Amino acid sequence: MIAKLTALQQRPADLVGDRLPKHVAVIMDGNGRWAKRRGMPRIMGHRRGVDTLKALLRCCDDWGIGALTAYAFSTENWGRPGEEVDFLMTLFERVLRQELQELMAKNVRIRFVGHLQALPASLQTEIERAMLDTQDNQGIQFTIATNYGGRQEIIQACRAIAVQIQQGNLAPEEIDEAIFERHLYTQGLEDPDLLIRTSGEMRISNFLLWQLAYAEMYITETLWPDFDRDAFHQALLDYQQRHRRFGKL
Ligand code: FPP
Repeated sequence: MIAKLTALQQRPADLVGDRLPKHVAVIMDGNGRWAKRRGMPRIMGHRRGVDTLKALLRCCDDWGIGALTAYAFSTENWGRPGEEVDFLMTLFERVLRQELQELMAKNVRIRFVGHLQALPASLQTEIERAMLDTQDNQGIQFTIATNYGGRQEIIQACRAIAVQIQQGNLAPEEIDEAIFERHLYTQGLEDPDLLIRTSGEMRISNFLLWQLAYAEMYITETLWPDFDRDAFHQALLDYQQRHRRFGKL
């Protein structure tokens, strides 16, 4: 309790608690460029990107933001050179193994979303362990989209619903948003309020196509490895100025 109070005091005074997003989603772009600008191999950018993600998770926790979702690997990322893909898979596995204890200690609930069955078996084992061990944790919900594609997620939801109809358990006219959401990977997780994309690209890139319907977007030129607490603070200040109307006046 004392630790929690101390942590919350660190939130900058100009961030108003009840105007903060409850759920932040991030497209972590620019790792390769960050490394290239320093004359380093691209993988060094990914390594540094992990540190940035860890720091952001801590920051969300400290500042009272209940959920963070990060786009770690898209279904399209398999098209990258084999070496880079292998490096990323090994990196995910190693980070999970190394960080699980700390995540447990911080009461983080970790969840992976995406077509996980196509990931290397050893990574799937770590993912299953992390999700199982942390499933009852009541702290920040940390979701990592890995081998994730928004269109693919929607198609698999349609297939699952179609099976229910075929089995006579559901009528087509009963399908509504609530039922559809129950078949998405993110079931049970509130939609993101804020999407942050680093490195200046103005695209959603097949990320959370359904869930981002009303999210505010914040795009910064900062490359992901440089996206620190100050940069996040700026994004939240910008978000606080937004007037969310959800299609109404
Ligand atoms: C995009 O930068 C980044 C990725 C595809 C990988 C992001 C992954 C991490 C930061 C690691 C996360 C770790 C865990 C355990 C979830 P890019 O390579 O597209 O950069 P570029 O646009 O400059 O080429």
